[in-house]
Amino acid sequence: MKKLLFTILIAVSCQACVTNKTDKTLQFAAKQTLALYNSVKDLEGRLPRSIDKNGNLVTSDDAYWCSGFTAGTLWYLYEYSKCDSLKTAAETLSKRIERQQYTTNDHDIGFKIYCSYGNAYRLTNNPKYKTVIVNAARSLSTRFNPTLGVIRSWDNPKWHFPVIIDNMMNLELLCEATRLSGDSSFLKIAVSHADTTMKYHFRPDGSSCHVVDYDYSQGGVFRRQTHQGYSDSSAWARGQAWALYGYTMMFRETHKPGYLEHAIKIADFIVDHPRLPADKIPYWDFDAPDIPEALRDASAGAIICSALLELSTFTDKKRSEKYLKIAGKQINALSSPGYLAEANSNGNFILRHSVGHFPNLAEIDVPLTYADYYFLEALLRVKKLNNYELKITNYELRIKN
Ligand code: GLY
Repeated sequence: MKKLLFTILIAVSCQACVTNKTDKTLQFAAKQTLALYNSVKDLEGRLPRSIDKNGNLVTSDDAYWCSGFTAGTLWYLYEYSKCDSLKTAAETLSKRIERQQYTTNDHDIGFKIYCSYGNAYRLTNNPKYKTVIVNAARSLSTRFNPTLGVIRSWDNPKWHFPVIIDNMMNLELLCEATRLSGDSSFLKIAVSHADTTMKYHFRPDGSSCHVVDYDYSQGGVFRRQTHQGYSDSSAWARGQAWALYGYTMMFRETHKPGYLEHAIKIADFIVDHPRLPADKIPYWDFDAPDIPEALRDASAGAIICSALLELSTFTDKKRSEKYLKIAGKQINALSSPGYLAEANSNGNFILRHSVGHFPNLAEIDVPLTYADYYFLEALLRVKKLNNYELKITNYELRIKN
């Protein structure tokens, strides 16, 4: 009955039975993302990426680092709605990137495979998805250098051994692969990468640089740089978001207190930052010279929001309340007309106003698949938290026992 109701809601109008703002946004997202899916359904091998300056859809092949996000968004929407048409769409786009499980020439395999097949397996328990996840972890592990203790991000000869803060996000795939296969080598690589990144990527104030180029021959760091941020010493907003999400996730996976302490330090850098705007959606770089005229990055806002919601479940009451208040403002902002697209506009992506690669003048103030993915994740996390009071009470019960 529930399935039928959602099928009618999404396929016909998606307007009825809206009970609250989160459900209203999720139902809009389902309708919009199904329309996005329909626009690539017959484009063999293509995946949504963004829109061009005329508003036309831009697609990518499966090798692009974002190829798994729309499948992941569809899996989240299937989780919410149990609607068969969303499941079929999620399966179709997941299938398009299946061969990425064998990629060994870049680190983004975690983004590609975990966001798609990770959710597919979580929601269906289908063993064929489990095989893809473990194969992908094996491929990613080939990029680990045991001497340096980190996974190489890019093969570009411009760097010796580059590791970008974004690479923290690929560790979730490795943690899951150990759980699924019993092979602890994946988890050990993830812990080594997180420990080494904590040592070399971060500044005393808790912010992270983007790229650390390790000295392959002598060990240690050759140089620290930016690639997508304003400058080598600036705090690129999405880099801070990846860092926050990465260490929160690694605490969930390992329960190592050092990761929680580090996640809190990163979170406090972000949420206490004097240049974080009132709606808590960051400028694309915390040090962009044209603040307050600088562009916002909705993708960084969505990633930070999702991470803060999880982090709030691990911290004491005072911090939980602080993080939930910020995450609540972010959800409100992203669910409002300033960021949320109107139906059948924005190339059928959900959120507007993200920044991909500012220094390259690429994907500036556009919709991006990962903004939608982490926004959906945040909305579902809000629903799972049930209500903030209950979660905080649970925390208090936990520390009492
Ligand atoms: N390289 C991933 C990002 O643009 O955040």
